[in-house]
Amino acid sequence: MTRTIAVLDFGSQYTQVIARRIRECNVYSKIYPYSITAKQLLKENVCGIILSGGPSSVLKSKAPLPDKQIFKLGIPVLGICYGLQLIAYLLNGKVASSDHHEYGRTCLLINKKSKLLHGIKNKINVWNSHGDKLIKLPRGFEPLASTENSDFAVIQNEKKDFYGLQFHPEVSHTEQGSEIYKNFLFKICKCEKNWSMSAYIESTVQGIREIVGSKHVILGLSGGVDSSVAAALIHKAIGNQLTCIFVDNGLLRLNERVTVEQLYKKNFQLNLKVVNASAKFLVKLKGVKDPERKRKIIGKVFIEVFEDSIKSIKDVSFLAQGTLYPDVIESVPIDGNPSSLIKSHHNVGGLPKRMRLKLLEPLRELFKDEVRALGSELGLPKEVLWRQPFPGPGLSIRVISDVTRHKLNILRKADSILLDEMKKSKFYYKVWQSFAVLLPVKSVGVMGDKRTYENVVALRIVESCDAMTADWANLPQDLLKRISNRIINEVRGVNRVCLDISSKPPGTIEWE
Ligand code: XMP
Repeated sequence: MTRTIAVLDFGSQYTQVIARRIRECNVYSKIYPYSITAKQLLKENVCGIILSGGPSSVLKSKAPLPDKQIFKLGIPVLGICYGLQLIAYLLNGKVASSDHHEYGRTCLLINKKSKLLHGIKNKINVWNSHGDKLIKLPRGFEPLASTENSDFAVIQNEKKDFYGLQFHPEVSHTEQGSEIYKNFLFKICKCEKNWSMSAYIESTVQGIREIVGSKHVILGLSGGVDSSVAAALIHKAIGNQLTCIFVDNGLLRLNERVTVEQLYKKNFQLNLKVVNASAKFLVKLKGVKDPERKRKIIGKVFIEVFEDSIKSIKDVSFLAQGTLYPDVIESVPIDGNPSSLIKSHHNVGGLPKRMRLKLLEPLRELFKDEVRALGSELGLPKEVLWRQPFPGPGLSIRVISDVTRHKLNILRKADSILLDEMKKSKFYYKVWQSFAVLLPVKSVGVMGDKRTYENVVALRIVESCDAMTADWANLPQDLLKRISNRIINEVRGVNRVCLDISSKPPGTIEWE
């Protein structure tokens, strides 16, 4: 079992970033709900514990507290922000609410040499975000660094290996933050660098072989990053015992089916079953204008088609999915914050239950960028690894109102021009999503001295880091001009192109 750095989550917006920073140092790190017991942690082969920051205050009666026994395990503990205050509070120091809230950049002055701050400059800029402050050190602790507002910005009890940082070393605004983590990992916890994608491939391939045995695995391949990397990894482990199903629902982009087919069949010799169910989907969508009804129909037909397409495959026992780590991290509500409730683990519309299949999720320990690194090691091309997200209901929610083959064809051409120009200019890889939307309005135009009365296309190009919030991307005018000119000149049936300049919120990324 890999030695793990446990990050106890007290609701900080940076908890996942802490785990990422540690993994970047080639050390495995896992996030646990703050309420995990010391006994459970021992079973997890933990070699260091990090208490994350969080929105609460130790001065509140219902403040989230860890199991106090963690301080008796003989394992190093590092508290960050709220985590530092927890250490102080639980080990009989004193925390008080401060008149001066420290938010954003602060200058940290290092006053004493230590293992934790080894190699750190005497004066660095750090990122703070706290209201309370430590006013009396617990017994056995000493201060290592100060800020204008706090004499105890970094503290340690070197004998017991307990450390606290009032600032956030995981954010990029903190200078030498990674060095501080490295000191904790290698000088204090004595971690080994054994977390790498090649080691992960080796152990996961072995694990998949043991779990699957001689049975068969099916996987719904969408062509997106997660399902593609999951497919490549499972294929490496069990070869032809994996069958991938790619459903063409008639709502894909230009040449998408052929591209996917060529990539996986030719380059990976992967067992790929391409099901052309376009007609079935389009018949069911005929005349449907409401976006939520479109989604429900597509979800239902997808399950029917998928079930149907695996009937002929023998000994199917597993359904593989590209579920990622952020979808499986369990947390407990903090300060009544509902967004941190336990997340539902499987988002497959009831598929496995009905089909009595066991789930195989080989990416469930990985963050998105680790999945990309893994895919790259497995030889997947850049176009797959850096593909922008594409919604399951496909172009049906980008043809506003009812969907027809004719409208889809117009949208496909316009969309492919937009993507082509985005890729040529490299902006495709800089934005979160860029796509065209076909509007249900006609506009008057003039082309070659003739009056036209044709369709309008909107361009939706957004920047985002997680799709929760987004802003429209400010692209060079000549690029926008080129896209607009090409769409109007090359796509019959379009005489006007508009640019969507709404942010999310209040808008959403998709139009429907
Ligand atoms: P919105 O439009 O809600 O989109 O701002 C956020 C992200 O989710 C994608 N999206 C979907 N993905 N099924 C999906 O698989 C859907 O029904 C769906 N609706 C939106 C959208 O493309 C964006 O990345």
